[in-house]
Amino acid sequence: MSQLEIRPLRPDETTRFVELSYYSFAGRSPDERAADFGRRVSAERNVLVAVDGDEIVSQVLMYELGVWIDGVRFPSAGLANVATVPERARHGHASQLLKAALAWMRDTLGVATATLYATVHPLYDGLGWALAEDALRYTGPPAAFRPSPYLPVEEGGRIERRPATVDDVDLLEPLYREFAMPRCGYLDRPRWFWEDVVLRTRAPQPRWVGLWYRADGQLSGYVLYDLNGPVLGPRPESELRVYELMADRPEGFHALLSFVSAHHLWGRVELNAGRDVPWLSLVANPHQLDAQASLRQHFMLRIVDVPRAVCLKRSVSPVSNGDVALAIRDDVCPWNHGTWLIGWRDGRWICEAAPDREPDAMLDIRTLATLFTGRLSVRQAVDVGAVRVRDDSRDVLQTLFSTAYPPHSPDSF
Ligand SMILES: CC(C)(COP(=O)(O)OP(=O)(O)OC[C@H]1O[C@@H](n2cnc3c(N)ncnc32)[C@H](O)[C@@H]1OP(=O)(O)O)[C@@H](O)C(=O)NCCC(=O)NCCS
Repeated sequence: MSQLEIRPLRPDETTRFVELSYYSFAGRSPDERAADFGRRVSAERNVLVAVDGDEIVSQVLMYELGVWIDGVRFPSAGLANVATVPERARHGHASQLLKAALAWMRDTLGVATATLYATVHPLYDGLGWALAEDALRYTGPPAAFRPSPYLPVEEGGRIERRPATVDDVDLLEPLYREFAMPRCGYLDRPRWFWEDVVLRTRAPQPRWVGLWYRADGQLSGYVLYDLNGPVLGPRPESELRVYELMADRPEGFHALLSFVSAHHLWGRVELNAGRDVPWLSLVANPHQLDAQASLRQHFMLRIVDVPRAVCLKRSVSPVSNGDVALAIRDDVCPWNHGTWLIGWRDGRWICEAAPDREPDAMLDIRTLATLFTGRLSVRQAVDVGAVRVRDDSRDVLQTLFSTAYPPHSPDSF
């Protein structure tokens, strides 16, 4: 077997890239994929391929996205279309390619973190990614989503309902941004993402949108949803699937949940729900809901560049005095591996290589990802042996990794 070459995709190879994507994942046709490709990414910057002779044997696409964590936009790569031709599976091609992609993400894309939705957990786990979100899927009959009587009601508010259009990006984005920014894990969505994934304006049936206007006419909340299956019935298999429901005040949640629960002919409603919104406090009778954690739909995160990521981190709790020498084990990205001196200076975190310092705390790169989004607390990580820390350094670590909200992202790619 000849040596694999890992290199950027050439623009004239786009057809081969989309054909392997289509073969691996089906869904959008190669032509649709080719058209989307040009709108979303640049071949030479955002795709790496492993080539044997003239054949692409493995490929990875890296979207450039922002991920909001506590009000800070973390420049991130969103990995998609990771595929190896099946006749060469389990030869280590994807791992080899992804290792090269990590160096590419740091040196060429300049990102701090990389996120993805895995079909094969062990592949990414072995390379330093970790499940980093904490969401549930609530299902129940529409009546189960009736709002709590304790929620305030806005007299004179109204809901406008219609299929989403391209223009809705400009309408919804500011509201989304205000909601997403202080949270943890939500994407800073590029325009193409809004159009193609969130609103599905190019699909034969775009998503439905319900817009909630306050009495003064201000748009203050919305729900995006799909209606699936025949409704004459009620039929148990018909479903109203909420993609996203958000409001900037409790009155909006009351109005939008009332709207959703009014669809009484539908067999069930499904809501992919982050714990950043206290859904069980928003509905009248939580016992009518079923909750399931769809772990395969949870995003995985990897810290690509430790000092960059730490220096971007904002502190949501009072900052303790003192520094911590943190030893990080990263067997895949040598630039992260070693001991880092982390401390608070002039309103921000600093992170400097400190190879000669005796560590105060130790963890591996996967644990760092889970702490970063708050999926694990320092205390929980210590409990399961994922972090070892001296007692007098615990406060600094807890401060560094405190987050305002549990992690969630409604999006996948
Ligand atoms: C998933 C996929 C990209 C793996 O490519 P690959 O080149 O075979 O992967 P590697 O040989 O580098 O695998 C490395 C490790 O990942 C894990 N892994 C890979 N494929 C796996 C599978 N199908 N099931 C479970 N673990 C798997 C194993 O731990 C493997 O190590 P091992 O072979 O020593 O046990 C390939 O099977 C594929 O294209 N699948 C269809 C598309 C897809 O699911 N893409 C991933 C999107 S997130």
